[in-house]
Amino acid sequence: MVKIGIIGVGTVGASVANILESNADLITARAGKEIKVVKGVVNNLAKKRDVSIPLSDNADDILNDPEIDIVIELMGGVEEPYAVVKAALYNKKSVVTANKALLAYHRYDLQAIAKDIPIGYEASVAGGIPIINALKVGLSANEILEIKGIMNGTCNYMLTKMMNEGVDYAEILQEAQDLGYAESDPTFDVGGFDAAHKLLILASIAYGIDAKPEDILIEGIESINQEDIAFAKEFGYAIKLLAIAKKSGSNISLRVHPVLIKNDKMIAKIDGVMNGISVVGDKVGETLYYGPGAGGDATASAVISDIIEIVRAGQSSPMLGFKKPFNSENLTLAAKDDIESEYYLRMSVADEPGVLAKVATILGENNISIDTFLQRSTADCSVATLLCATHRTKEKNILSAIATIEKLDIIKTNVTMVRIEG
Ligand code: HSE
Repeated sequence: MVKIGIIGVGTVGASVANILESNADLITARAGKEIKVVKGVVNNLAKKRDVSIPLSDNADDILNDPEIDIVIELMGGVEEPYAVVKAALYNKKSVVTANKALLAYHRYDLQAIAKDIPIGYEASVAGGIPIINALKVGLSANEILEIKGIMNGTCNYMLTKMMNEGVDYAEILQEAQDLGYAESDPTFDVGGFDAAHKLLILASIAYGIDAKPEDILIEGIESINQEDIAFAKEFGYAIKLLAIAKKSGSNISLRVHPVLIKNDKMIAKIDGVMNGISVVGDKVGETLYYGPGAGGDATASAVISDIIEIVRAGQSSPMLGFKKPFNSENLTLAAKDDIESEYYLRMSVADEPGVLAKVATILGENNISIDTFLQRSTADCSVATLLCATHRTKEKNILSAIATIEKLDIIKTNVTMVRIEG
């Protein structure tokens, strides 16, 4: 029998314990051995939980138990779980974690400490979608040219509801939290950080690149409002938070930001808590992965797949997918503003003569060609909303134009900018 300890018995931890029980025969047959959760660790023993495993509030009860073979880390945070995972590895226990923030900062350190001790992290990216396995194993013959996807279920759930039901941002965020989709600090979701953590993990497997969240462009969905949604609907777009990794020569561009994307693109059709990731390999072409990106059972499905792999084989593939460092092309991380795109801009301006001309002149002076320009009146007759879509231009041009526009005295609020994905 293989004995498991779960540190962090929240929504996902409880699902792991319950599925290991409810699907026990099937899992035993697949793994070749019986797998049993013998202990769980929680912060607050007084809180009622939907599990029937012995609970303690001391992680050492699992870390120092010689009978426990595999430690499941589902705590959240970065430095505390880092210490816990290291302690498990030093005690020669295998580890399974769903913690993308931990891996975004410490994946290479953990790989170095673990050496041949298995660490599974399938659940860290895109919940129930086996994207780690797809990249590490299924696509391992390919040079990865692009990864592009919806990797945060909370944001996708919120944007879908805002788009389809006109629901208010704050109300829908609360709903996503109540459904157990959001991180304990939902800023990680709506600020784009959670998707960025996931992107960095995938980029390591694809490119062997060691970037940290601070190194890449991260923008969230906080500034998206119903005016943007109305513009998107009018011109045939969906609004999605995308995480993008793109190889161009020896440059790797990594970024997370909202986009307007034409409704007929497959990614535009991925709604609700579902995630969807497109991976382009040089030999296979485009492959697409779709499934639930958050939620207890979906994430537990991925956690248990790691447990089964460890029990079966002790883990057949190296943690981050490379047996030896891969740097034959001297891959480097592209600068944050090394982007070309079409752009959508929204701004509140004084509703008076010459305002449109001033804004249009600044765009022209920055080499930006306008595709669509709309003016909407507001309840306050002295203020109008300008909405504008541009032709393709360099990010540096659009940032310079925005900086100049924001200095105009006719501007009432900061300019909101969303990239338009081709
Ligand atoms: N908060 C995350 C999301 C959970 O909404 O996608 C899954 O990683």
